[in-house]
Amino acid sequence: MKSPVSVSERRAVRERPTRWWLETLERRRVRQSEERLDLATRDAWQTDEERRAAHKFFNAAFRAEESGLRQAHDLAADVAAFDPELSEVLRLYGDEEGWHRELLTEFLGAIGGKVEPMGRVTRSFYALYGRAKRMETIVLTNLMFETIGSTTYRMALRNVEQPAARKMLTILTRDESFHVPLNVHFLRNVLSRTPRAARLRLKLVYHALFVSLVLLPLASRPKAKAFDRLSTLELSRGYAKMLAGLFEREPDLGLNPPRWLLALLGIRREELGDEAVGATSLEAAEQAADRDRIEVRAL
Ligand SMILES: [Fe+2]
Ligand SMILES: [Fe+2]
Repeated sequence: MKSPVSVSERRAVRERPTRWWLETLERRRVRQSEERLDLATRDAWQTDEERRAAHKFFNAAFRAEESGLRQAHDLAADVAAFDPELSEVLRLYGDEEGWHRELLTEFLGAIGGKVEPMGRVTRSFYALYGRAKRMETIVLTNLMFETIGSTTYRMALRNVEQPAARKMLTILTRDESFHVPLNVHFLRNVLSRTPRAARLRLKLVYHALFVSLVLLPLASRPKAKAFDRLSTLELSRGYAKMLAGLFEREPDLGLNPPRWLLALLGIRREELGDEAVGATSLEAAEQAADRDRIEVRAL
C-alpha cells in the first residue's frame, strides 16, 4: 500500500524546477520506441455499434492530440525568448502529443476506422481555442483539456473490455495524467509573469471553460457511449470533480471552481481530495516519471 504523502514531500514535488521536467521528458522519450500497441485483438468487438463508437471516440482523441501538439510547439517558440529551458520542455511535451497522434492513426486504421473530418461542436471548440492569443489563456485551456482528456480515458477504462482498445487507453491515460501536472508547471511559470488585471480576466476564462467542458458530454455521448458506456451525468460529474479538484490542490493559482455547478451536480467539497482526483496530481507525476512504474487504475 502506498504511504500518504507528507506536506513537506508535497512542497518538494511542487517546487520541482523546469530542469526536472526536462530530464523526465527526455527519459520518457527514450522509452517511447519500446511501446507497442496490442493489435492481435483488433477485430474482437461485441457489436458493430461498439466498433463504430470506438472510431468516434478515438477520432476525438486524435483531434485533442493534434491540437495539443500544435499549441505546445507554438508556445515553445514564444517562450524561447525568455526561458529556453521551458521552451525545450514544451517542445518535448508537444513531441509526446505527436507520438500519441501517430499511435492513434495506426490504431484507428487497425480497427477499420480512419481520421474523419471534425463534427460541428468539435470544430467550434478548437476554432475558439485557436483564437486565444494570450499565453496564460492558452496554457490554462490546455491544462483543462488535458484534465478532461485524462478523465475520459480513465473513466472509459472502467467499462471498456476490448483488449486492443484497453491497451490504447492505458497508454493515453498514463501519459495524459503526467501532462496535467506538467501543464500546472507551465501555468505557474506563465502566471509569475502575468499582471494582476490579466489574472482577473483569467478567472472569467476559467469559469466559462469549466461550464463549457462540463456540458461537453451532451455532444459526445450520442457518438461514443456505445464504446465507453458512460452516461452524460456520469462523465459531466467526472469532469467537474477533476477540474475542481485540480485547482483545490493548487490554491496559489487562485482559480476557484464554480460552487453552484458543483452543488448542482451533487459534488461535495470532501470528494475533491479523494484518491481518484489525486491521479493527476504532481505527486502522481513524480511516480510516473518512469513510465514503467505508473499503475493505471480506472476511476
Ligand atoms: Fe496526448
Ligand atoms: Fe497530453
